[in-house]
Order: sequence, then structure tokens, then C-alpha cells
Amino acid sequence: MSGGLDDGSRLSFGVASAAYQIEGAPEADGKGPSIWDTFTRVPGAIDDGTDGSVACASYPDPRPDLDLVAGLGVGYYRFSISWPRIQPLGSGTVQKSGLDYYERLVDGLQERGIEPMATLYHWDLPQALEDRGGWLVRETAEHFADYAGVVHDLLGDRVRVWATHNEPWCAAYLGYASGRHAPGRQVGAQAHRAAHHLLLSHGLAAERLHAGGADTVGIVLNLTPVWPDSSTAATAADGVDAIRNRIWLGALVDGEYDAGTLRVAPVLADPVLVRPGDLDLVRGSADWLGVNYYTPARVDIALPGETPVVDEGGDAEVDAFPGVEDFRFTPRHPRTDIDWEISPLGLEELLVETYRRTQLPLVVTENGAAFSDLTTMADGTVDDADRVDYLRTHLAAIEAARASGADVRTYVLWTLMDNFEWSHGYTKHFGLVSVDRADLSRRPKRSYGWVAEQTNERAP
Ligand code: FCB
Repeated sequence: MSGGLDDGSRLSFGVASAAYQIEGAPEADGKGPSIWDTFTRVPGAIDDGTDGSVACASYPDPRPDLDLVAGLGVGYYRFSISWPRIQPLGSGTVQKSGLDYYERLVDGLQERGIEPMATLYHWDLPQALEDRGGWLVRETAEHFADYAGVVHDLLGDRVRVWATHNEPWCAAYLGYASGRHAPGRQVGAQAHRAAHHLLLSHGLAAERLHAGGADTVGIVLNLTPVWPDSSTAATAADGVDAIRNRIWLGALVDGEYDAGTLRVAPVLADPVLVRPGDLDLVRGSADWLGVNYYTPARVDIALPGETPVVDEGGDAEVDAFPGVEDFRFTPRHPRTDIDWEISPLGLEELLVETYRRTQLPLVVTENGAAFSDLTTMADGTVDDADRVDYLRTHLAAIEAARASGADVRTYVLWTLMDNFEWSHGYTKHFGLVSVDRADLSRRPKRSYGWVAEQTNERAP
């Protein structure tokens, strides 16, 4: 069973956001600080020196967002729940007023005929848990399961589609290896511990949700096709593939870390870290899989003497792959405004391969593009023909993957509106709607109209 997902007879649509990127109001109603509240205060951490304390001000009033989602005609709104709003210290005391906001959001979606798709963790760990070791310690996984249970007790009668984590690769390796994301730590190979604890926390939370009656519990991964760019790059590419893809899928599908993964991450063979039963819990725990895709990873060996940091997007920093030696990323053109190579073919290949590997119902839980949005029409509407083109070609790639047998149910676009793009602050625009930073007024772009046309044409 996977209630709440479409049956796949036709591809459906959704649109996504994440709590820290849109909500603002970091201290409202007893919310505790998260690692992003802390990290954004570190000088130099965020390109434009900004933070999410205002963001799109969605927390004070979610209705404008809800109306914009409804206007797109999509079937799903994917949003995330902020753990420190629910448990300000990450464990124990539950802040009912923090939950109220998500109740209003979910009720507002249902009034508009939109199915909620809730992500329990989109990177905003309660700071109090980071102070006790964060994802490097096992207790955080146990606390996460309790938090998941609390949220499910309240919203489980209305939310059917759940995701535990968003892109645990980023949480583990950008958070604890490269340090480009909160909490900004650089502990090298110890970051593999975070990866294991994130997987374990998914397993524990899925168990809790299933016991509470949920039957559509998934996890969202930023899987990536990895393409060696020369005949000498095979070993490096295998290492990148291990950390980016196989560590997660191996645990979820086979209940093991494969030999190539253990080669780059030997700590994952330590029975004190990976205890008997951990991976049994993770295996088979997902009822569906979310795939976030923006760009492929082309891998080559490092040039002699080169300091190989490529890709300011953060997705392909070599520091974020501890244990993989002497390589660089070699993205080709065309690229988006965040320097990510545009390759719809990568998405088609990824979906076919991921379905072959997992046999799970798939949702493309994020796909979209940053562009500068400098071209406007006479009435001031952003004329983002480049974004429309990106979305059109990636939609065609999804349809091609479906035609090859990949069970892709829904195409969820990143993102509803321009928002706080992590270490890039407000400098990168992924939205279908622009947000005026001065007064936060929202204005649909041309791409918004394009999406509305697609959903309209495909309406049953
Ligand atoms: C993904 C994140 C999402 C957004 C997009 C551009 O990695 O999940 O929050 O930042 O990238």
C-alpha cells in the first residue's frame, strides 16, 4: 500500500519548499534555535551575509502561499516541518503552538484539494542536539524517531505522504565534511558517522510511523548519475558514486554497505558504529523514494598541483567526499546561474536506473533551475524562458523514463517562490514566483503560467 501517492497512470505535479527557506519567525511561539540560525551568524558562511530570519514570512501567514500553490493546479505541496518549532530542545517538551502552524497549513491545503507531502527533516536540527554531538552521535537518531512520532500523532489523520529526510548526503557531508552547510564542521572521514546515523534515524522513524498506521513513508535522496570523464577516472567515479548513491540505496534496499563503499568509508565496518540490527531496520523501510535531481556529476582525476574545488553550488565540492582521493568535477555547458550543468538525459538515466535498483514507486521530489531572472515583460513579470526550457526538457526526460518502465508518479518542482538558498543566501533564484525582498510581495513568473498550463492540459 502507498496511500496518498497517485497510481502512476498519468504523471502528476507538485511544488516544493522547505521550512528554513521560507518561514522566517525564528523565535515565534517558543521555537528553539536550529543549526541554521546559528550557522548563518558565522561571518562568511552565507554569500550575501543574510539569513532566514525573515525569508518569505510564510510562518506568520501561510495563506498567500497556499493560494499560489492552488493557482498552479498541482496535486501536491511538499513542505518541511521545523523540528525546533515542535521540540525547541530537540527532545522532551513539545511546543503545541509550533504544531498549530502545520495544522493550519495542512488544513488549508486540504480545503484547496491539494495533498500534503510532509518532510520531517530538511536540515534544521535543533541547536541543543548539535551541542550534544549532532548527527555524529547515535542519540540524535533516537530523538529523531521520537520527534517523528510526535508529529505523526498530530497530523497522521490528515497527512498521508511522509518523507523522513531530505538529502541526507547534504546533511552529513556538507554539514560535517566540507562545512559549507550548518553546522559547518569539518571532521573529514568522521562525517561517515553522520551518514549512518541519518540512515538509522530514517529506519527508526519509519518504524514509528508504520506502527502508527502510516503506509506511505519515504526518504528523499539527491541521487546523481556519476559519469567518469576519462579512462583513468573509474576509481574516483566509483568512490563518488558510493558516497552519493550507493551508501543510501545499499542500506535501504540490501541492508548493507557494499565493498566499494567500505573502501572509501572504512568506519562503516565498525560494529560500535553500525550495530547488529541497524541495517536490518533500514532495509525495506521505505514505501516510496523521492529523487531530487538538478545536475549530473562528471568526474575526472585531479590535475597535478591543482586545488580541486569546483562548483560553487556546493553540490560537487571535493571536500564533501571524504575517502575519495585525487579527483575533480568537470561540469560542461550549458549551466544554470548556480553553475550546475544542464542535462535532462541525466535525469532520464537516473530514474530508469533507480527504479531498476529499488523497484519502489518514485517521486521526483525536486527539480528546477536557478536563473538570474533579469528579463521582464512590459508589465514587470519575470520572463524566465530559460527556466521554462529547463522544466520542459526535464519533464520530457521523466516521460521518457516512464516509457522505459520507471514507475515515476509525480514531478515536484523546486520551488514555489524565490527563497533563502542556504549558503547562497538570496542570490540564487529558483522560484516560479518572485519575491520582492523589500516588501515580500509575490509575483508569478512566466514559468508559473507554464506549469499551470501543463497541469490544466493533463487534468483528468
Ligand atoms: C536542494 C535542496 C533545496 C534547494 C535546492 C536548490 O539540494 O534540497 O532545499 O536548496 O537544492
